[in-house]
Parts: sequence; structure tokens; C-alpha cells
Amino acid sequence: MDSFRTLHNLELKSIATAFVAGLVLYWVCAAFFLAVLHPLAKFPGPKLAAVSDWWLVYHEWLLGKSLTDILGELHQLHGPVVRYGPHRLHFSTPKAHSDIYNLKSRWDKDPDVYKAIVDGSSTFGLTNYHLAKERRDLIWPFYSRQSVQQMQKAINRQTKEGKLSNMSLAFRCLAQDIMADICLGSSLGTLEAREFESPLILALDQGLDSYVLMKSFPTLRNLLYSISAIITLPGEAEFTAAGTTVADHVTRGIQCPDTIPPHTMLSFLVPSPSDNTKEKLQPKLSQDIMIEELQTFVIGAGETVASAMVQALSGILQQPDLYKNVYEEIVQVWPEPDAPAPPIEALEKLPLLTAVIKEALRLTHGVVAPLPRIVPAGGAEIDSHHIPAGTSVGTSHVFIHMSPEYYDAPNEFQPERWLGDSSDKYLVAFSKGPRGCMGINLAWCQLYLVLATMIKTIRMDYPASLNDSKIKWKDCYQPLYYGRPLRIQCNRMESQC
Ligand code: HEM
Repeated sequence: MDSFRTLHNLELKSIATAFVAGLVLYWVCAAFFLAVLHPLAKFPGPKLAAVSDWWLVYHEWLLGKSLTDILGELHQLHGPVVRYGPHRLHFSTPKAHSDIYNLKSRWDKDPDVYKAIVDGSSTFGLTNYHLAKERRDLIWPFYSRQSVQQMQKAINRQTKEGKLSNMSLAFRCLAQDIMADICLGSSLGTLEAREFESPLILALDQGLDSYVLMKSFPTLRNLLYSISAIITLPGEAEFTAAGTTVADHVTRGIQCPDTIPPHTMLSFLVPSPSDNTKEKLQPKLSQDIMIEELQTFVIGAGETVASAMVQALSGILQQPDLYKNVYEEIVQVWPEPDAPAPPIEALEKLPLLTAVIKEALRLTHGVVAPLPRIVPAGGAEIDSHHIPAGTSVGTSHVFIHMSPEYYDAPNEFQPERWLGDSSDKYLVAFSKGPRGCMGINLAWCQLYLVLATMIKTIRMDYPASLNDSKIKWKDCYQPLYYGRPLRIQCNRMESQC
């Protein structure tokens, strides 16, 4: 009996040993294939990154490094194209950027990254090119130039004068309320929060902070998504409350289209019965998708606008001559003290204000992470390299915007660089191509109007002690800002600054 047990144990032991040896052999072969024989093996980068995505998880999540910093170090070592994962390449040149993000490249977004940001089927979240195109074509008319006029009205409703102090938060609340106004016809009341510490805005930061975790551990992410109905995660309650408000508007709108405020995104998606026929028109999207689409806009789309506003104001206030010149330029088209802001077309013609906005967009980048796209069947030529199908490729805007090759003193806020016959060729904050920003017109409109209103109507003093402060961020797809917020003493403008 004892010898049978010993034999049995020996057999189990050798099966286990053979299993482990088999696994090790498989890993060694797979690693050898990925590092030496794989079509991407010719591209430079750390060998460990070539054989496993865990290399990136270790650097991003465990060491807490920003992906853009990691890529910056790799490009310095290896040149303009680097392999930073078994199937991932990053390029740093404008040529590569235009090869990847142009209207002819009908490529899918990389789900590994985008599913960590939104789980669903809003335009932004749709990773499949064809599904996204269908949705974009349907919604596009809403983003047309005409909507800019409605945006101007929404901004006028939401811009209130006051003792704005923490501008970093104030602009985020303002952008959020403007987005809710243009989408639903009423704000979420974020501007009302004490010291602009809106729980929703603070929850957005928590959400951004968890991006690297959600991207690094997809199984955990799926688990968290599936139990979110049972367990409330940090910040979840605020998202749920805001999401429910949006959902209520949509449900009410579908039941009674007549009650939807006109010229809003909701009124575009749920047309009212026409006056002539009194026929009930079909909503353009199903109720669930409409809710998701509007939630994504209302809750997230203002963040990039707000960062550009903070950068623009911070840059102007640190240069008194620039502040004076922009003020004088605005007064030329908006001379009366108590008159409402002029039409957007008048502001668009101001060269210095336009240059300030471009410089703010350059330094805030829009999105800082590489926007990864999957190379389709047949492969693609990127910056003179043939890239095989299935590769995840991207170029972070940071490498274009901060390159001394295209911008002198790239770290400095120098709006003058945009004056004269300068070209916008290397300004890619809104991305390009079939998945570029849909809200570009509305974003420009907000930037012109809010900045002109601030500069024209409010006297802002920037504490000298903050002069050395640079805006700092961590790469969480969007930049997650930390360090000292932009605090400004604001008073009603009585005379010229
Ligand atoms: C300064 C402000 C803004 C900047 C710099 C900006 C930048 C960007 C960038 C870089 C993308 C591409 C993201 C990616 O491929 O991963 C994007 C996508 C998008 N943006 Fe904006 N954005 C701004 C404001 C807005 C606003 C105000 C709206 C809505 C009114 C908006 C709506 C969208 C939509 C719907 C997409 C997704 C397009 C798609 O995936 O097909 N954006 N934006």
C-alpha cells in the first residue's frame, strides 16, 4: 500500500514537473519568437517590453511613471520609432502623426486603451471605425458652425461674475455647466459648489487617477464594471447622480419632445412633432445609447477646454505686457463697458487672442497619451516603415508640441510664435483624421468667449509668489493636473489694466 502511495506521489510529481517544464519551454519559445522572429523585432526598444506587456505595467503602474515620460526616454535612446510592448509601436515625428491620423486611414481604436476610459457605445467609446463613422455622420450636423451660435448663448447664461479664486476648478465647473446647457438646456449646477469644489469634478480626478490601473489589469477592470451595480467605488456616487440627471432628461424628452429646450443636443436627437404634420418623429438613437452619448459629453467633454483656459490665463497673467495688449485688442471689438460679448466672428479675427489660444492648446496638448490605432489587414506605411496588420500604433501630441525642432523654446508660453504667417501644421491638440475631435468648433467658441469675457470684464491679479509655478500633470490619457492650482484675485474691471 505504502509503495503504491509512493509510486502515485512520484507520478504526480513528475506530471507537475513536466507541466511546469512545458510552461517554461512555451514561455521561452514565445519570448524568443517575440524578441527575435516577430515582424516587430526589427524595431528598437527594451527586450523585456518586446516579450511582455508586464514591462509597461511595471513602469507605469508600479513605478508610477507617466507613459509620455517613459516614451520620451525610449525615443532619446532609440530614435523616432520605439517598440514598447509586444504589439505596440510609438512614433515621435509629425510625418508618422499624419500617416496614422489622416482621413484615409480607416483604422480601429485600440480597445486595450479605450475600454479603460469608457465602457460603452458613445461615439468616443466606439473602437470600430465603421460603427463610429455611422454615429459621427448622424451626430455631425449638431457640431456644425450653426451650433456655435447656441454655444454663445449657453456661455452667456453660464458666465457669472464673482470673486473667482481657484481658477483651475472654476474653469472646469464652468466648462461642465456650459456642456450641460448646450446638451440638455440646463446646467448640473457645478458652478454653485463652494470654492468650486464640485463633487463631480473631484470624482473626475479620481476616475482619471484609476486609468492606469484599469488599463493595466483588464480582468480586474471587467470585474469592477460588472459589480459596479452592487458595490459603489470611490467617486462612483457622483458619476451615478450626474448620469441619472442626464438619463432623466432623455427619458422625459422622449416621452414629451415638446418640452425639450430648443437648439440643444437633446432636441437634435429627439425631434419635436413637426408643426405641419404633427407626426411623431423617431428619435435618432435608441434611448440607452442616447443616454450614454449625452453622459459622455456632459460629464467629460469640458475638461480639455478647461485646461486650455487655465493655461491661457496663467500664461497671460505672468506677462503684464501681453495681458495689456490682449485687453486692448479685445476692447477694439468690444468697446462698451456693459455691453454683452460681441459675436464670435469678431473675436475670431483678433490675432493676439487667437495666438494665445493656440499657444494654450499647444501646451495642454488636448490628450497627452498616444491615441493608439490598430493597423488594418494588409499593413501600412508609417514614416517609411512597413508596419504589419494588428500592430497598435500611436503618436502622443506631446512629442510634436514640445519638439525644439518645430518650436523654439517649446516649454515657454510665447503666443507671438503664432503671429504673422505661421502655420498650424504642428498644432495637433484636436487630433486629425476620421476620429479627430468632433467638438472642435464648440471648443474654439468656448475658448474665445470665456477668455475674452474674463480679460475684458474682470481685473485679475496673479500673486507674484506663483510666478515660478509651472502647470504639472501626470499622463492618465488626459493630463491629471497636480501641484499648485491657479489662484487669482478677481475684481470687477473699472479701468484699463
Ligand atoms: C480644447 C478642447 C478640446 C480638445 C483639445 C479636444 C481634443 C480631442 C482629441 C485629441 C480627440 C481624439 C481623442 C482620441 O482619439 O482618443 C477628441 C475626440 C473627441 N472630442 Fe474633443 N476636444 C476638445 C473639446 C471637445 C468638446 C467641447 C467636445 C464636445 C462638444 C468634444 C467632442 C469630442 C468627441 C465626440 C470626440 C470623439 C470622436 C471620435 O472618437 O470619433 N471635444 N477631442
